[in-house]
Amino acid sequence: MNSVLETSRLLLREMNQADYPSIAAIVQEEKTMYAYEGPFSDAETQAWLEKNRVRYKMDGFGLWAVILRETGLMIGMAGLSWQSIDQTQVLEIGYLFNKHYWGMGFATEAAKACKEYAFTVLDAKEVYSIIRDTNIASMNVAIRSGMLVRSRFIKQYRGVLMPHLVFSAKRLNT
Ligand SMILES: CC(C)(COP(=O)(O)OP(=O)(O)OC[C@H]1O[C@@H](n2cnc3c(N)ncnc32)[C@H](O)[C@@H]1OP(=O)(O)O)[C@@H](O)C(=O)NCCC(=O)NCCS
Repeated sequence: MNSVLETSRLLLREMNQADYPSIAAIVQEEKTMYAYEGPFSDAETQAWLEKNRVRYKMDGFGLWAVILRETGLMIGMAGLSWQSIDQTQVLEIGYLFNKHYWGMGFATEAAKACKEYAFTVLDAKEVYSIIRDTNIASMNVAIRSGMLVRSRFIKQYRGVLMPHLVFSAKRLNT
C-alpha cells in the first residue's frame, strides 16, 4: 500500500485488517497502555482499527501504521485525528509505539512528520497533543516536536476522570 508520509527511517501508511496482530501487540500491552487505564480487549482493539479506517474515509487521515523502513515491520501508530477539548474540535497528533521500539527517537520522528503534514497538506494553523498529566514520555515527544504547554483540562475516558495537559505548535507566518 502507498505510504502517506516518509521520513529517513519510517513510512506511515493506512492500517488494514492484516495489521491487527501488530496493533494488538501495542494496545494489549500493559505498560504501553497505562495512560489509557489498561490494555484493550480484542473487541476494543478491533474497534480501534475500524475507527481509524472510518477516519481515513471521513477525514482523509487518522492514526497511521508506522513502518520501519529497514525491516518492513509495523512498529507503532502515529497520525492525526479530530479531538475535542471541552466543546472545541482540534487537530491532534497521536502516537503509540511497540515498547520494543521505545528510546530510539521514532515517535518524535513520526510526530514531526505529522506536524509538517498538518501544516502543509491540511493547511492547519495549529496542531495539538492532548496528554495525560502522568505521561512524561509522551510530553517529551511533544516538546521535542516543537510543542508548548497551553492549558489543562479534565478528560473522561473509560469512565475515569483524568487531568490532561494541552500541548500545541502554531504554524509560523500564518
Ligand atoms: C509516547 C511514546 C511513543 C514515547 O516513546 P519514546 O521512545 O520515549 O520517544 P521517542 O521515540 O521520540 O524516543 C526518544 C528517546 O530516544 C532517544 N534516541 C535514541 N536514538 C535516537 C535518535 N536516533 N534520534 C532521536 N532520539 C533518539 C532519545 O534520546 C530519547 O531518549 P530519552 O527519552 O531517554 O531522552 C511511548 O512511550 C509510548 O508508546 N507510550 C505508550 C502510548 C502513549 O502513551 N502514547 C501517547 C498518548 S498521549
